[in-house]
Amino acid sequence: MDEKILYGYTGLFDTPDEIIEAAEKTAAEGFQKYDVHTPYPVHGMDAAMKLKPSKLPYIALAVGLSALFVMFIFMYWMTTIDYPVIVGGKPFFSFPAWVPVLFEITVLSASIGTVVTMIAIFFKFPNISHPLHDTDFIRSVTSDKYGISIEAEDPKFDEEYVRSFLASIGAKSITAIYWDNDEVNFKNTVLQPKFITFLIVVALAVSGTTYFTLNKLMFMVPFNWMREQSKYIPQEVSTFFSDGFSMRVPVKGTVARGNMPYRYAGDPDAAGKELINPLAITEKNLELGKKKFDIYCSPCHGYFGKGDSRLRGQFPNPPSLHSEKVRNWSDGRIYAVLMDGQNVMPSYASQLNRNERWAVILYVRALQRSLNAKESDLK
Ligand code: HEC
Repeated sequence: MDEKILYGYTGLFDTPDEIIEAAEKTAAEGFQKYDVHTPYPVHGMDAAMKLKPSKLPYIALAVGLSALFVMFIFMYWMTTIDYPVIVGGKPFFSFPAWVPVLFEITVLSASIGTVVTMIAIFFKFPNISHPLHDTDFIRSVTSDKYGISIEAEDPKFDEEYVRSFLASIGAKSITAIYWDNDEVNFKNTVLQPKFITFLIVVALAVSGTTYFTLNKLMFMVPFNWMREQSKYIPQEVSTFFSDGFSMRVPVKGTVARGNMPYRYAGDPDAAGKELINPLAITEKNLELGKKKFDIYCSPCHGYFGKGDSRLRGQFPNPPSLHSEKVRNWSDGRIYAVLMDGQNVMPSYASQLNRNERWAVILYVRALQRSLNAKESDLK
């Protein structure tokens, strides 16, 4: 079982000219599985060995184009389907903005793809050994000699024939190279328990040290007066109040500043009797009333309160504001409609503040008077 498997034969040469000539002769002889080893790149070697161009560029092209395609689809999906947001008035599909991203992703993927392919496929990563490693041959060709190796896998390989061929082209120290036992099936990998443990220890040590240094040792509070202020965030439990609520209701019997409670909710008749319009009939108040009426009331009631709704069939048409009934209502009674709404008409309490509500009512009065002018109005 100790019979070693032959990897191939090697021979050494003394000068670059000799190795070029040897490479040409080996190629001409018809060998395919052979390689040339030199301490530095020797010009003209590719041509001498009759090497075909590398397949790597095709892999780079394929990886780059795939990344380009995937990124294009991804950005298209993101900007037009998943999350269409208008940015700077550009259309959702705005190709010029994508060009830099597409270019970068293509270049990045192509280069990473090339390196990974080279290491994983051509060098059979994670394998790290080769029969030529640790031989006198490799020691020589990495220092001052030029060598050629012909593999046993070559179709023309025959021990006697290769040895005499190497001698015939002038090779010195012709040697047979054998596989080491664990090299044969590329079992000699970096993935050894010792190495993996080492990696884990290094990773933990580096990240731990970094974390400790940046977050503990060198940490400075940036603005502690903002970070550490005494305040309650909404819904937070209070340790001060006995009921534990940090959000408080107003103290009983008090009113917040600028906040006038409305006491007539659900009782429009009482509002009609007791509420008085506090605003004077001035140009300014009528201007305000017209502005707010046009915005909030005219869509349904029409610009002149005639009930000619612009919502055409989307909402029930309101009655005219010029009816006998509404003309005879007090300002307070109309105020109650704005606060509570009336049947299908919703409340406008949140759209208009107190002043604006009364101003709108002044304007409604002006509209009513304009369409029902008495003779006395003309004097
Ligand atoms: C969304 C449409 C709509 C808007 C906006 C609207 N109303 Fe009305 N309003 C109605 C409808 C519909 C009625 C009739 C409700 C009913 O059936 O009693 C109505 C009724 C009224 C009435 C009582 C009329 C009556 O004869 O009973 C007054 C007064 C009134 N609106 C004033 C206003 C004022 C002032 C505004 C602006 C702040 C306003 N409305 C905004 C739809 C609207």
